[in-house]
Amino acid sequence: MHTVQVALADRSYPIYIGAGLLARGKLLAQHLPQNRAALITDTTVAALYLDRVAEALGAAGVSVTKVVVPTGEQHKDWRNLNAVFDTLLANHCERKTTLVALGGGVIGDLAGFAAATYLRGVPFIQLPTTLLAQVDSSVGGKTAINHPRGKNMIGAFYQPLAVIADTATLNTLPDRELSAGLAEVIKYGLIRDPAFFAWLESNIEALIGREPAALAYAISRSCENKAEVVAADEREESGARALLNLGHTFGHAIETGLGYGTWLHGEAVAAGTVMAARLSQHLGLIGAPEVARVAALLERARLPVNAPDLGVERYLQLMGMDKKVEGGRMRFILLRAIGSALLTAEVSRDALAAVLAAPVAHA
Ligand code: NAD
Ligand code: GLY
Repeated sequence: MHTVQVALADRSYPIYIGAGLLARGKLLAQHLPQNRAALITDTTVAALYLDRVAEALGAAGVSVTKVVVPTGEQHKDWRNLNAVFDTLLANHCERKTTLVALGGGVIGDLAGFAAATYLRGVPFIQLPTTLLAQVDSSVGGKTAINHPRGKNMIGAFYQPLAVIADTATLNTLPDRELSAGLAEVIKYGLIRDPAFFAWLESNIEALIGREPAALAYAISRSCENKAEVVAADEREESGARALLNLGHTFGHAIETGLGYGTWLHGEAVAAGTVMAARLSQHLGLIGAPEVARVAALLERARLPVNAPDLGVERYLQLMGMDKKVEGGRMRFILLRAIGSALLTAEVSRDALAAVLAAPVAHA
């Protein structure tokens, strides 16, 4: 087991990474303020892992309330948030009852927001079971539900007490979901870790082939990167954390524009990352070889590099909902090299329109 620490003073917490961790009930139980937990998951993950986790917790002396919501991005909404509250209230879950998110980023975000708001805030633990959740969404305390007008529009910053990433759960993950997670892994290399990007270029086929050592390294290195960024700018105030949003302004527009769940989040981020790279090229920050290098790695990860053609006006309307908009101006994460990114509002409408007008063509 490898442990990465998220350093946030009295709210610091460990990320445990290793195979078979879901069966280790005491690893989770040691973090509980009360021997009660509500396990929140989706129908797909429930069939695979819910009983295993409930039994492991039972053996560690923890009584469990099970909460199962429908699978899918389109269900990360206020209806299912309310359904979670219904079950918690019906079972008299208390202020010291810990909400445990068992699943991918949809469950982590939904359960995390439930934890932030139920009884004005209850303890929370993440058990991520997708690659995307193990490398990104379970770490850092961003929780949210979607609104029909925009992704993740309603939420809270709320840190977990611990993250327990059982890498063996990735054995049951569909190929398409594994690739979606790689989009966020590649992101860390692009924004701040050129050596990791080069390692990914050498090892992407090993990751696609689910070689355990390669996956374990990619997850650990991603978590180290994310932990450093979150420790530096927990609430996305200085601009450091905003860099984690490379490709997301475009990606969220794709997800909302096509309808939640049509493209996976990681797929939308991949195509959005190529758009961000092309915008960076348009502004003279990087050249065509860098754009080609970005697109080539994403393609080898079996991710889409061509965005859907939603039309310039629709893209602009959707991107206007971005949470980074400040004083009415959109702000973008751009690349100034492989391994270095910046946040800027200095993007002309012409440059943006040029990228959006031909979203299916890349360098
Ligand atoms: P997801 O939670 O929908 O999981 C993907 C699919 O895999 C689902 O069908 C799920 O049921 C299934 N699944 C989960 N674990 C499995 C396993 N081990 N075996 C088989 N199937 C499994 O999607 P995701 O890609 O994990 O997360 C995407 C979400 O995360 C988006 O809503 C995105 O906005 C959010 N996100 C949040 C943050 C953050 O910082 N909070 C960061 C990135 C993404
Ligand atoms: N996934 C972006 C962030 O955590 O800030």
